[in-house]
Amino acid sequence: MKVYENATEAALSMRPDVPVYCYRPNVLKADARAFMDAFPGETAYAVKTNGEPMVLKSLSEAGVTLFDVASPGEFAAVRSVAPKAEMIYMHPVKAQSDIRLALETYAIRVLSLDHEDEVAKILRIVRALDLDPGTITLFIRLQTKGHAAYELSKKFGAAPAHAVELLQRCHRIGFKVGLCFHVGSQIEDPETYERALASADWVRNRADVPLAGLDVGGGFPASYGHDPRRKKPVMPGSDEIMASLRRDIAEWGFSDMPLVAEPGRVVVARAFSLIVRVLLRKGRRLYINDGIWASLSDSWTGKITLPARFIPDPARTQRNGDPKTIGSFKVCGATCDSVDILSRPFWLPETVDTGDWIEIGHIGAYSLSLRTRFNGFYPDTFVEVTTPFDDGTAADGYASLETMAD
Ligand SMILES: Cc1ncc(COP(=O)(O)O)c(C=O)c1O
Repeated sequence: MKVYENATEAALSMRPDVPVYCYRPNVLKADARAFMDAFPGETAYAVKTNGEPMVLKSLSEAGVTLFDVASPGEFAAVRSVAPKAEMIYMHPVKAQSDIRLALETYAIRVLSLDHEDEVAKILRIVRALDLDPGTITLFIRLQTKGHAAYELSKKFGAAPAHAVELLQRCHRIGFKVGLCFHVGSQIEDPETYERALASADWVRNRADVPLAGLDVGGGFPASYGHDPRRKKPVMPGSDEIMASLRRDIAEWGFSDMPLVAEPGRVVVARAFSLIVRVLLRKGRRLYINDGIWASLSDSWTGKITLPARFIPDPARTQRNGDPKTIGSFKVCGATCDSVDILSRPFWLPETVDTGDWIEIGHIGAYSLSLRTRFNGFYPDTFVEVTTPFDDGTAADGYASLETMAD
């Protein structure tokens, strides 16, 4: 992989017509270590967030030895890059053949569930493989309440009384049992972990079975941009969120048991930025070479504002407008279909034009993993960049703001 000091240097030397991912392995390793140092338990990186081999390898080099996986593709990705790493299979709803593969081929011994039929599926395979249920830990996934860019409890999690029943059922069979939750990805409500812990405490007291562990899931917010024209949401920084989680864990009496977290976004978001090219400016519209079917799906559906840096093409000698004025542009994606129009504008200097580039920052989470091959487009060009996105010249624009000014 070619190495550049920053994305501007990469864009001006490559003059790319395809999107280019700028990978910052040192930022990834530093962010992973920061999380591991701050969390008072084991860190299981959520592979779904970004399962690229280069990412898994850097995380393994940074000391991550546990991975949260959800599918055979993720089992294989982790095994091939980090053969000694352990995996926890925290998808609550699994195909029976995948459960078999996890237990038999990958020796995975930690799984999650939120329904009794899932217990039956797991038990069937455990019996077929003649495994001792006492060697397997089943984490019962609890529903949570709170605001997040993605609220996962709409889809997963048992209500507290149901979780009590599931804990007791699994314990009776002979499995080790734990409790887990996921408060939603990119939380927008700092109290959400405490509410989930209070609910876990209620379930633990009612179930009255020995707990093998508590898994607090993901949700830890990554740092993104914010729309300067809107009120800044009041969210504490990462250090503060982690400090209050540590306090809440102690206050609710969970400090004495094995703890796990499954961070994704907060670990990998800053590790990548993306250089896109303006294929055409048509009035207030920019047609770019990426879009909702590739790297911009997460920022689109999650309504996430990303910082953007304008990289003008020096070959363009004539420009209109004031370069200091930031304006909004409707953004059309690369594919030849009309759905591929971002629902939020990009805000960029008024001089932006056909042939220029835009570096979109903090795009490491849920961008590469959500790429599709729709219409034959599949961004897959990588360079390594040594300077963190935020260390360069200040970002002068924003991608995917909430409102359209015009
Ligand atoms: C089971 C599970 N664990 C962890 C994560 C990672 O969450 P985040 O990226 O919010 O840290 C997810 C994300 O959807 C998930 O479903």
